[in-house]
Amino acid sequence: MSSTENFINHLLAQMTLEEKLGQLNQSYPHENFDPELLRQGKVGSLLNASGALTGQGFSESSSAEVCNHFQRLALEARLKIPLLFGRDVVHGYRTVFPIPLAQAASFDPELVEEAAAVAAREARAEGIRWTFAPMVDIARDPRWGRVAEGAGEDPLLGARIAAAAVRGFQGNDLSRPDTVVACAKHFVGYGAAEGGRDYESGEMSEATLRDIYLPPFESAVRAGVGTIMSAFIDLNGIPATANRRLLTDLLRGEWGFDGFVVSDWNSVAELVSHGVAEDRAHAARLALYAGVDMDMVSGAYLDTLAESVRNGQVPIEEVDEAVRRILRIKHRAGLFENPYTDPQRAARDLLTDRARQLARRMACRSMVLLKNKGDILPLQNFRRILVAGNFVHARGELYGTWSPDGRAEDATPLHEALRQTAPRGTELLFALNDDRAFHLAHRADVVVLVMGEHPIRSGENANVSDLGLPPGQAEFVEMMAGLGKPLVLVVFAGRPLAITRQVALADAVLYAWHPGMEGGAALGEILFGQESPSGRLPITFPRATGQIPIYYNHKNSGRPVSPQGPFATRYLDLPSTPLFPFGYGLTYTTFEYANLRVGSEVLRGAIEVSAEVTNTGSRSGRELVQLYVRDLVGSRTRPVRELKDFRHVELQPGETRRVTFILREEDLAFTRADGTRGVEPGTFHVWIAPDSQGGLRGEFVI
Ligand code: NOJ
Repeated sequence: MSSTENFINHLLAQMTLEEKLGQLNQSYPHENFDPELLRQGKVGSLLNASGALTGQGFSESSSAEVCNHFQRLALEARLKIPLLFGRDVVHGYRTVFPIPLAQAASFDPELVEEAAAVAAREARAEGIRWTFAPMVDIARDPRWGRVAEGAGEDPLLGARIAAAAVRGFQGNDLSRPDTVVACAKHFVGYGAAEGGRDYESGEMSEATLRDIYLPPFESAVRAGVGTIMSAFIDLNGIPATANRRLLTDLLRGEWGFDGFVVSDWNSVAELVSHGVAEDRAHAARLALYAGVDMDMVSGAYLDTLAESVRNGQVPIEEVDEAVRRILRIKHRAGLFENPYTDPQRAARDLLTDRARQLARRMACRSMVLLKNKGDILPLQNFRRILVAGNFVHARGELYGTWSPDGRAEDATPLHEALRQTAPRGTELLFALNDDRAFHLAHRADVVVLVMGEHPIRSGENANVSDLGLPPGQAEFVEMMAGLGKPLVLVVFAGRPLAITRQVALADAVLYAWHPGMEGGAALGEILFGQESPSGRLPITFPRATGQIPIYYNHKNSGRPVSPQGPFATRYLDLPSTPLFPFGYGLTYTTFEYANLRVGSEVLRGAIEVSAEVTNTGSRSGRELVQLYVRDLVGSRTRPVRELKDFRHVELQPGETRRVTFILREEDLAFTRADGTRGVEPGTFHVWIAPDSQGGLRGEFVI
């Protein structure tokens, strides 16, 4: 038996039932929080520890001193089991990176890993040992506010980003002083909430669950993620927090996950509202039996499980197993040897130049150029530029959802950042989205509109029924476009917005998402051409809200869109295609794809697929080359395309390179009609493509 397991068994043997339940209980310092609970060993984890309730004059925010204060109390308990401090460190800590959806647009897992590592080091410097990230929920419905927190609609991209984030947060040794335990959330199907309404129920087939929603979680588990959070959702009639088949049979049985599962906020007690539990005691029994080891703040475990164990409704072995899993992670995280954090660390580790540079690089890499008529961008031949819109003075607004530890004053306001990056000799004028903008526009050679969603319109429960620009903005764009000046639209948002009309009006459109702390400088570098945009859409952009759900890896149907006809699937009032497809994005040069080569006609084990990519423009550039397949006939219907791999190439003007992918047989596995997973023989189409619609097509058989 390993030393960790010995240690756990030894400790467990000494624990009373109450002490065991304490380990399963996660609390947060709230108004009625009694710190005595810590001394009594009744809290295993604290989330969002803040100074306000210590009574020691600490500030509201988290800090090493605050965590140390609570830790000291916990270590006064009989068995001296340290607390695990959790927090939502979602896209940076003090250094704020672009929102996760934007990070996914970089299609750059290594960069994601680096950013997570910076976030881990910073959070750890303030006593945080566990982050509730990465959020790896697939999202096919941008009305859902939490689309901002994940990697978009694709299982392969989602899986790669999930693994990268886990590696970044956890490093290869959780006990190292610059790592935090990661938490893949929300298990599972949370993004399928009906109507895009957060917390709503959802339904999906087992095959969709397995082939689309589960892969990012499985990838996080393979990357060694320490914890998993159960979702709020009622999926197919079983609330995720009570789903033993998924939390135990699949997660632990099939995948071999050996960390612990935490519920989402109060979701154990909410099993009563879901209508699967009569009361909190029943809810606690269901959740524990399902495989939820730690109860986030509902208190139902602490308050009711002792009685349930005593009256024989819950076997003590179930409690012991949950305690064991939690102690295992605490032990792996080195908490028993190093429960405290050196308060001097923050001054050294927070907001370093290196971290800010990385945040800037990530912001540059995540912006997506959607349109660039007449190569109006980069802005090089305009002397006087008007920048107008609600983001002109943005600072904290650039951060996006879930950035509780970012400080607005750390960001250079957008207008200043643009000034700093503009070429000498350029005159910049600024205005909000008001009449002044209209007047100043007359004097300008080009107008740049910086518009979009305030971060509070994005994130948890920030759902919208209308994907248009926020109220009033469409009218402003219309008015400015009416002036007839060259027009560039920059959109800040936590979700794809349906900007069909604005794309038609503007000469160029750059999607900046919520780009984080260095977003202003990154935007300037792209607008003025020091950097070229290279982000690609990690999610399909609809033409109108009514097109939702629309995603690239849909099924063909019996009456597909193409060839068009009166009885092909369609809307009468909209084209069937999206505004922009998954994988799409332009840059300041152009690329051509030629000479596709499929290594052999028959795939045995693996096959090589390659194509030549040429930079046909006059600037160097970075292209994301994408590999897609379609399995033409299956026992269950197959998506019209599936992303199987992607790679960046940097090419000088005129340069050609052959890009080669290896497609393995197991990459083609799916959930078959009989419910088993595997590959079926037959013909496959394969594309090497710049996005999910175009590209060169070849063929092979298995
Ligand atoms: C609720 C959210 O759903 C979850 O993502 C988050 O980690 C917890 N609250 C803790 O803040």
